[in-house]
Amino acid sequence: MPAASAADLLAWYDRHRRALPWRALPGETPDPYRVWLSEVMLQQTTVTAVKPYFEKFLTLFPNVAALAAAPEEAVMSAWAGLGYYSRARNLHACAKSVASAGGFPDTEEGLRKLPGIGAYTAGAIAAIAFDRPAAAVDGNVERVMSRLHAIETPLPAARAQIRLFTQALVPERRPGDFAQALMDLGATLCTPKRPACALCPWMLPCRARAEGLQETFPRKVKK
Ligand code: ADE
Repeated sequence: MPAASAADLLAWYDRHRRALPWRALPGETPDPYRVWLSEVMLQQTTVTAVKPYFEKFLTLFPNVAALAAAPEEAVMSAWAGLGYYSRARNLHACAKSVASAGGFPDTEEGLRKLPGIGAYTAGAIAAIAFDRPAAAVDGNVERVMSRLHAIETPLPAARAQIRLFTQALVPERRPGDFAQALMDLGATLCTPKRPACALCPWMLPCRARAEGLQETFPRKVKK
């Protein structure tokens, strides 16, 4: 069985990347504000639901200084409908902290200290906005990795192992594209039901697929 490679995933991404409003075009420099705003919105909300809110926030608050200077009520009312309102309060607190520091920290460790930024979001911003070789492991990525390695340990216990497997695959070049490619793979091909294995750049190295058991991963503790 061949090993999974970042190169194969990136080649797939170059052909199939989704055009999303927060994504920089190839060759453009990503804007950390847009990356951060989108990742916070996407924490518990789908891409489809996030799109109009992302556009609205950019119009109302075009940069982190504008968001920091806005009244709390303006931020909360712009967020209304997205749910999980502690995210909006943390967003505003984070904007104030970043604006007074003069910009976003550019490491996973620095990002992790900001309000509303957990392990996943810190990894995603470090990779996508700052080209750091960081892993961004969300539920989609957990599914992809648990299938690739046929991880028998159920979630959530398998999380630490999945993080290590993901980190080991992160390339030195294009770590931000790698993070987004993994998200796209999980969202479009390596879906919970009926994954489209025939189209997957990692079909051959996938252990679950080799056994015909792709839909049975990730293993979960019985409720
Ligand atoms: N889900 C979370 N972050 C994402 C991103 N940057 N692109 C697509 N889906 C995502």
